[in-house]
Amino acid sequence: MAQKKDDWAPSTLAAQALHLIDEATGAVVPGIEPASTFARGSDYEPVGGFKYAREANPTTLAVEKVLAALDGGAEALAFNAGLAATVTVFETVRSGQHIVAPRIMYHGGQDWLRRISETRGIGLTFFDQTEDGALEDALRPGETAILWIETPVNPTWDVIDIEKAAKAAHGAGAILAVDSTVAPPCTTRALELGADIVFHSATKYLGGHSDLTAGALICAEENALWDEIKQVRKLTGGILSPFDAWLLLRGMRTLFIRYERASDNAMELARAMADHPRIVQVLYPGLESHPGHEIAKKQMRSGFGGMLSILVDGDADAARRVATATRLFIPATSLGGVESLIEHRKSVEGPHSIVPANLLRLSVGIEDVSDLIADLDQALGAI
Ligand SMILES: Cc1ncc(COP(=O)(O)O)c(C=O)c1O
Repeated sequence: MAQKKDDWAPSTLAAQALHLIDEATGAVVPGIEPASTFARGSDYEPVGGFKYAREANPTTLAVEKVLAALDGGAEALAFNAGLAATVTVFETVRSGQHIVAPRIMYHGGQDWLRRISETRGIGLTFFDQTEDGALEDALRPGETAILWIETPVNPTWDVIDIEKAAKAAHGAGAILAVDSTVAPPCTTRALELGADIVFHSATKYLGGHSDLTAGALICAEENALWDEIKQVRKLTGGILSPFDAWLLLRGMRTLFIRYERASDNAMELARAMADHPRIVQVLYPGLESHPGHEIAKKQMRSGFGGMLSILVDGDADAARRVATATRLFIPATSLGGVESLIEHRKSVEGPHSIVPANLLRLSVGIEDVSDLIADLDQALGAI
């Protein structure tokens, strides 16, 4: 018996981009609609439901439908960068309200939080994500509007329990927004664990090929807050362009197999590096020795991802020497692409960085893992 679309597994929906076959041409891949404006009919209503591309357009809407389906959400919005999406969520917070976020998180989002806290009278508390109960203690019932978490936390990969965070946020009258960039919906569906909004830098795993910048927000339900987010995106022009939306749609078709391969490679690399004489510590939630491993097992259902960090036996200079001695790992920022990258994180995070000076962040791609292990091993000789 033929299954209905509603019954298809997320990996099936991703592979076929929701089976969005063009009715007029039969094309199995949606086209790009670059129009910035859309005609009205004799009744002065928009002919196809679209008015102006800054508000919504067919290609961006197509990718938004796939994003919503993969995360099991009510609706999705695509933005021209991850940070544009993050900032839009924080834009809904009023002066006098309060935001809670982890002490270590994507540094750009943290810089923005500091900025609005200083300029708009918004309360801000960063909690220590490694300390039990710190998240709960940071909440101010009735005042906290948003609990923002990131998991695994970049670049130490501490794991925050989404279910627990959702209960705590809701108990304090706040919403929970989860930056799930490193754990995309092929492994974590944060909305099912109680989050109200899930965020992805789609520049990373969702796009997967380091050839676009994009952000995504997906809501559990359409409500007044979501309407405001939509309104802010429209007024600030943060929407993803049709060309990039199309690229993202193409990238997402292979999300599941790319993530699986990157996870397998990262696990093997992490194990191979765990006893390396020039490495002090390997941080990877897939390792049993990682403090967040048990929670990761619970909420990263099909792989721990390709992100890991190594603490080298030396100072910042030694770490930078390793990062520039690789021949296969590319010394560059970003993550989640098919190619492996290495980065000295402290050098790029700026003055507020509390990341250890000897930390190197690895974004493990889909290459042959034996080449990756050999490359890192030879580069560690630079210490
Ligand atoms: C975890 C995480 N969140 C948010 C962002 C910001 O996304 P974008 O660079 O697409 O604006 C990044 C970018 O590195 C990230 O790694």
